[in-house]
Amino acid sequence: MALAAVHFLLKIPSATSLWAPLRRSLQLCSRCYPVRASWSYEAIKQQYRLEVPEYFNFARDVLDRWTEVEKEGKKSKNPALWWVDGAGEEVKWSFEELGVLSRKVSNVLSDACSLQWGDRVILILPRIPEWWLVNVACMRTGTVLIPGTQQLTAKDILHRLQKSKAKCIITDESVAPAVDSVGAECQSLKFKLLVSDSHREGWLNFKDLLKNASSDHHCVTTKCQDPMAIYFTSGTTGSPKMTQHSHSSYGIGLTVSGRYWLDLTSSDIFWNTSDTGWAKSAWSSIFSPWIQGACVFVHKMPHFDPRISLSRFPITVFCSPPTAYRMFVQHKLSSYTFKSLRHCVSAGEPINPDVMEEWKAQTGLDIHEGYGQTETVLICGNFKGMKIKPGSMGKPSPEYDVKIIDENSNILPPGKEGDIAIRVKPTRSPFLFTCYADDPEKTEATIRGDFYVTGDRGMMDEDGYFWFVGRADDVINSAGYRIGPFEVESALVEHPAVVESAVVSSPDPIRGEVVKAFIVLTPDYASHDPEKMMKELQDHVKKVTAPYKYPRKMEFVEQLPKTISGKIRRNELRQKEWRKD
Ligand SMILES: *[C@@H]1O[C@H](CO)[C@@H](O)[C@H](O)[C@H]1NC(C)=O
Ligand SMILES: *[C@@H]1O[C@H](CO)[C@@H](O)[C@H](O)[C@H]1NC(C)=O
Repeated sequence: MALAAVHFLLKIPSATSLWAPLRRSLQLCSRCYPVRASWSYEAIKQQYRLEVPEYFNFARDVLDRWTEVEKEGKKSKNPALWWVDGAGEEVKWSFEELGVLSRKVSNVLSDACSLQWGDRVILILPRIPEWWLVNVACMRTGTVLIPGTQQLTAKDILHRLQKSKAKCIITDESVAPAVDSVGAECQSLKFKLLVSDSHREGWLNFKDLLKNASSDHHCVTTKCQDPMAIYFTSGTTGSPKMTQHSHSSYGIGLTVSGRYWLDLTSSDIFWNTSDTGWAKSAWSSIFSPWIQGACVFVHKMPHFDPRISLSRFPITVFCSPPTAYRMFVQHKLSSYTFKSLRHCVSAGEPINPDVMEEWKAQTGLDIHEGYGQTETVLICGNFKGMKIKPGSMGKPSPEYDVKIIDENSNILPPGKEGDIAIRVKPTRSPFLFTCYADDPEKTEATIRGDFYVTGDRGMMDEDGYFWFVGRADDVINSAGYRIGPFEVESALVEHPAVVESAVVSSPDPIRGEVVKAFIVLTPDYASHDPEKMMKELQDHVKKVTAPYKYPRKMEFVEQLPKTISGKIRRNELRQKEWRKD
């Protein structure tokens, strides 16, 4: 019963009879699926209710189900995973092959590393197929996956091992020495698995073990709310928190992303250019596409040009951060044709309207921006078929009740700036993180009244579109005007001289604080006279946004300080400013 319900819930074709109440509550979705053109935001919003069954495991209830559909010949012949690298190597796995291999890895985890339900495992690998196998194997064994990027230093790894008490770490030879340098200080760490053709003292060899492993494995039974993964979120302040997600939050909650934002079906080939290390790569590299039975495309190349991949491979849906789109349009796309591309999305930072316009002029396609956090699934999105207001992050996902609230948790009317928040009372959405692991205080601190507070500032307009202002800590208050850094940064990067910029507050005897911009110039402009450059950029900002927002102070720098996940540390720059005086 529960199984059939889940299949229906996620719209996976199923011959088994469906659970009637769920069918009723989802009638609308079944009607609009898969006829894309008739989707209406209002209709989805009103009637979309995802009910959550008691038991759920993504590997068994979604991936194995797609294997059956595949075997029945009822889905396109696209693989589940299509991986290519710069040297002409290629891996194409069907859902069935993914199932067989991930079961073998499950046996490696439970036999060779004696990992059990609830044990924590750190995974640090580059974009290689094994990354996907370990992800799926952790679901099958009920172990809690903690992904990390290759850029972590020995100190970061030590912190993560100690804080998470992980029992096992899986990585390759580039990170292994860092692990060995701190391993002695981590009592909980019992197993080290090396994904490599070579061997290393003190490490088990993943590939050897995989060769001998059996492909018979019985997936553990997991409840919806059981922990599935922990993402270390490097905030711009403080040490990283352990954001814990359940089996249902991403596994079911990302249905809206896959279906309405990314507009995927099992005939699509989806590519997100971002790396596997970031917490949210699970969104785009696993859950959103596989819920829909779509193919996950992965390109592993040290210095790749996305334009070449888009013209060479039949990619239909594409996601990239704003900076990459900006780079493409600057270099003209006219010599490339993206034959299969039909839908584009952007996430990570707000995209500026300028880039959207230019992309549309050159490709005929809109860019659909989406907004979410590691703690959540998609919060707002420009869903397929919706009118796009350039610069807005779209409307709330039908899975959440999103509001703009003030410091006393009152809901603010349209046009008023406040905190972006998600209602959690009387019931907390099952598609939110469950907690910051081992830290009830920090978890509690995210709640204000009936809401989970995102920590982002925003505004809703009369039409119900949301507009991003900035992280709460980053907003500048100059002579009574509140100025969000993103709008100023967006205006600055529209100028051809600017690669990127960070805007923070700086002390001023008259105004209290003023806007200061740290700017990285393109090589062509780096040698220009700084005085003139500053004047030109100030005039530019005054022209493209409200004049009071222009940066009164400016500093040209080689690079900006960033967190390992690539977020600009505005906090660090601001502190430096305020320490000076
Ligand atoms: C794999 O099996 C072969 C043959 O049974 C054996 O010689 C080898 O030691 C095994 N390798 C591992 C890593 O267990
Ligand atoms: C693509 O990956 C980035 C980084 O992990 C993430 O922020 C973004 O949401 C992803 N896109 C989608 C469509 O999930």
